Parts: sequence; C-alpha cells; structure tokens
Amino acid sequence: MGLTIGVIGLGRIGAFHADTVAALPWVDELVVTDAVPAAVDATLDRLESARPAADTDELLASGVDAVVIASATPTHAELIEKAVAAGIPTLCEKPIALSVADSAEVVRRVGDSGVPVRIGYNRRFDPAMAAARAAVVSGDLGFITTVRSTTLDPAPPPTGYIAASGGIFRDCAVHDFDTVRWLLGDEVVEVYATGGNQGDPIFADVGDVDTASVLLTFASGTIGVVSVTRYNGRGYDCRLEAHGSTDSVVAGWDDGTPVRNLQADSTFPTGAPHRFFMDRFAAAYRAELGAFCDEVRATPSPNELCTAQDALEVALIAEAATQSVALRRPVHIDEVRTAHAAGEHLSTTTRHTSIRRP
Ligand SMILES: NC(=O)c1ccc[n+]([C@@H]2O[C@H](COP(=O)([O-])OP(=O)(O)OC[C@H]3O[C@@H](n4cnc5c(N)ncnc54)[C@H](O)[C@@H]3O)[C@@H](O)[C@H]2O)c1
Repeated sequence: MGLTIGVIGLGRIGAFHADTVAALPWVDELVVTDAVPAAVDATLDRLESARPAADTDELLASGVDAVVIASATPTHAELIEKAVAAGIPTLCEKPIALSVADSAEVVRRVGDSGVPVRIGYNRRFDPAMAAARAAVVSGDLGFITTVRSTTLDPAPPPTGYIAASGGIFRDCAVHDFDTVRWLLGDEVVEVYATGGNQGDPIFADVGDVDTASVLLTFASGTIGVVSVTRYNGRGYDCRLEAHGSTDSVVAGWDDGTPVRNLQADSTFPTGAPHRFFMDRFAAAYRAELGAFCDEVRATPSPNELCTAQDALEVALIAEAATQSVALRRPVHIDEVRTAHAAGEHLSTTTRHTSIRRP
C-alpha cells in the first residue's frame, strides 16, 4: 500500500510540492488544504489523487501518513506542533518560525516527541551542491579558506509575502546559511551583515532590505560570503563556491547561469537564464520529498534532510545577520544565544570577540 500525504498551503511552493508528491511512485493519495478555497480547487483540478480537507485540523485527523507544511511562514510553528502532537511525520518549509524563541520552543517539543520533523532546505539535494560537499568532506580541497553562497532572485515576491516573511535574512539568506554550514560541517561564530534598498519602498516600510551581503566567520577560520538580492533582472542566480588550499569547486554554473559573460574568447553560458527557484531546483525538491517519503516508509536512503535542530542553528545565524544590520556591527552567535536565553535585546555597543583557532 502506498502513502497518503497531507499538503497544507497550496501557494507558490505548496502547489508545486503537491504536484511533486503526487508524482512519487509510492504515494497513492493526497489530502490538501489551504486558507484560500480557490487554491484547493485549482489543486483538485490538476491532481486526480487529491481530496480536500476543510482545514488543517480536519487534514491532520484524516489518517495521513505524513504531512508537508507549505503555508505562510507565520503559521509554521503552530502547525508543526499540531502535527507532532498527532504523531504525524512532518516536512515543513523553511524557516521554522520568525523568531529564535519560537524556533527553539518548537525544537524542544519536537525533540521530546520522537516524531520526525524535517525542514525544507532543499539545496542539500541539488546534485552539484551535494558533490561540492562531498569534495569538502573528502579533504580534496585542503583546508577551506572561503565559501561563497549566492541567491539572487529575479524579482521581489508579492507585497503580502514580503510583509510576513521576517525579512531577507530569515526568508531568503537562510538557504545560504544552511548550505554553507552543511557544506563545511562547521559552526558560524560571528556574523557581519549590511543591506540596502533601491527598489520598492515596501522593503524599507516593513524594516527589511532588498539587497544584502553577509560575512560569516566559522569556528575553523573559514570565511563565508553570502550575497542576496530581490532584484536580479537577468534571472535566478544561485551558486555555491568552495575555495580550498589545494583546489576549488563551484556548484550552480551551468548554461542557465544568468550572467552575460563579456569575455571575448568564451561563449559560456549558452542557454536561457534560470527564471526562478522552481526551474532551478525542480530535481532537488523532487529528491527532498522522495527522501522524506523514504523516511516515512522506513526505507534507507542517503538522507540529507535538514533536522529541526539544524534549522534552529540557521535561525540563530539569520537573527545575528538581522541584528548586525540594525546595530551596524559584527554580532557573535553566542550573543544571540545568550540574549535569547535571557529574553533580552542585543546591545548597540561593539563587542570584541576572539575567534577560536582550530
Ligand atoms: N524551499 C524553498 O525553496 C521555498 C521557496 C518558496 C517558499 N518557501 C517557503 O514556503 C512557504 C510558503 O511560501 P509561498 O511562496 O508558497 O507563499 P504563498 O503566499 O504563495 O503561499 C502560502 C499559502 O499558504 C496559505 N495559507 C496561509 N495560512 C494558512 C493556514 N493557516 N492554513 C492553510 N493554508 C494557509 C495561503 O492561503 C497561501 O495559499 C514560506 O514559508 C516560504 O518561506 C520555500
């Protein structure tokens, strides 16, 4: 017998996930719900194997084997907790929650429950990024001096999404933070971020930036450089580079890389630029959802799914980056951890920290 999978939230990514899950060979049936009835109707029109649930409570009580949560970010924490309380294995889209406190609370409850909860950091399933990680882990690159992770969106998300997203670091750069941490198997100790706005005033109105860069210092001494923007007119540009003392690798250079190469003797890249995350990461989403179903079926697979604990570490980095822009200074991860534990805000004074040597 195949699986019955629930999908909560059928917007940009949820509709795509519903289609992907429905196409997996070991999935028999989908139960779907969304706060907007038209989104449910559109999914039912596309997918014969889908049936509707009136709301999330009905879906979670409908006998699903597992659930994929792809609703808006502010709903994640509550929905994860409800799914875990019902004993249902859960794959939730990133991030866990808008705040470190809410993320930590979810992680605490999940840890006590024994119910698998995975967070949708899909880049772990991109074949080239996985190969880059394997190269780092093998030692072939020597010691890693620098990692660079780039996420340049072609255009901003809808206005309502921006306002509820938690800002560019919690919403977008979290992918980069998860990827570089996973790539290196190392922890970030300090974060220095800057950001700016030249596009739609909505970003400034909600206290966000449309473009940012982040310097990450890892415990090993490796430097991470993360670049993100909401305005990259040529297309969706997502790359990962690892530079080592003996070799360098890059993931995300293909003929769809959205750059106009002005080198006279080079024709690369030759294809149409990637337009968005759906076309760039279709295979990665498929592999991620497949790995999640394997876990639900207790079938061994090379499982790189992001745990809730990993996602909490990512949330700490995103919080440090957000604070770094606001305070205009580097922020140590331990400062964020300590402030969170004490329920305090960070100080505006510069805090000098010594970076540990390996
Ligand atoms: N992993 C990725 O690459 C990736 C890409 C895009 C979005 N996301 C994440 O996925 C989530 C959704 O993003 P999106 O771009 O699809 O947003 P969206 O606004 O297009 O869709 C969200 C959907 O959730 C529904 N919804 C909201 N509250 C609900 C509730 N309580 N119950 C049921 N449905 C509810 C909305 O009606 C909407 O249809 C966000 O958390 C985002 O961070 C991840």
